[in-house]
Amino acid sequence: MRTLTSRKALLIAASMAASLTLAGCTTTSQAAPKKVLVAGATGQTGRLIVSELLAGGYEVRALVRDEAKARQLLGDKVELVKGDIKDPATLPAAFAGTDAVISAVGARGAKGPDRPEAIDYQGVKNLVDAAVANRSQQFVLVSSRSVTQPDNPLNKMFGNVLIWKLKGEDALRASSVPYTIVRPGGLGNGAGGEMDIVFEQGDAVTAQTTITRADVARICVEALRFREARNRTFEVGARPGPPVTDWRAKFAALMPDPLP
Ligand SMILES: NC(=O)c1ccc[n+]([C@@H]2O[C@H](COP(=O)([O-])OP(=O)(O)OC[C@H]3O[C@@H](n4cnc5c(N)ncnc54)[C@H](OP(=O)(O)O)[C@@H]3O)[C@@H](O)[C@H]2O)c1
Repeated sequence: MRTLTSRKALLIAASMAASLTLAGCTTTSQAAPKKVLVAGATGQTGRLIVSELLAGGYEVRALVRDEAKARQLLGDKVELVKGDIKDPATLPAAFAGTDAVISAVGARGAKGPDRPEAIDYQGVKNLVDAAVANRSQQFVLVSSRSVTQPDNPLNKMFGNVLIWKLKGEDALRASSVPYTIVRPGGLGNGAGGEMDIVFEQGDAVTAQTTITRADVARICVEALRFREARNRTFEVGARPGPPVTDWRAKFAALMPDPLP
């Protein structure tokens, strides 16, 4: 059984109290993050997270493996720090001076050095440890729907990717860092902001949903703004309907995760 850190217990209690007493407002009672580290910034979702952060007025630092490729993909408004999530020694410099981190890293193959175990579990755990050392205000993790379903065919097809992603999530939930875990279903490359967004909890086996990477990026960045998004794990999908206008209400409707 994991040991509960008293810091996290206090944060969760404060989060619930804030939701009750300040409904209708942006209830982040500590300073909102200003400088955000993005891990996986060169990926398809990561690039959109960077754009969304810049559009929101955040300072952005990207943790990248190939600076030339990153500069070409991300433009010149982003600070680049070279690092590899498999190598913990490269992470403190990437985190130094940042307030929050968003991770959209993902394995690059079922086998080899960037397999799911190395990236979605150990790499994410290395990021979590670095965020703890940095006393980051928040860690937003892009994970996946179906991580609690070991029999899902994706595990056989892709190096137990869902099993390792759940272990990565567990490392974050057990840490002292306030977090938001976003679990999309199938990702698409269409536009964002054109559909209703559905938040669910419980990782139902029957749910089959898709969502665009642009909408996932928006959810990750909105999660930085609201205390109600903290210490929540939830699945996200899209359906026809008007786009979300009240993100605080979306996060506030979620249950906080049970204490680890
Ligand atoms: N595809 C789907 O339908 C789907 C569904 C649900 C959830 N997801 C999850 O959603 C997330 C985002 O997906 P995506 O398709 O946007 O990802 P993606 O395009 O595959 O990008 C993956 C990112 O991870 C980075 N990365 C991999 N290994 C790394 C390492 N050792 N150190 C630093 N960075 C590393 C890559 O950097 P490089 O550019 O250097 O390789 C890249 O920026 C992933 O976690 C994915 O598993 C995907």
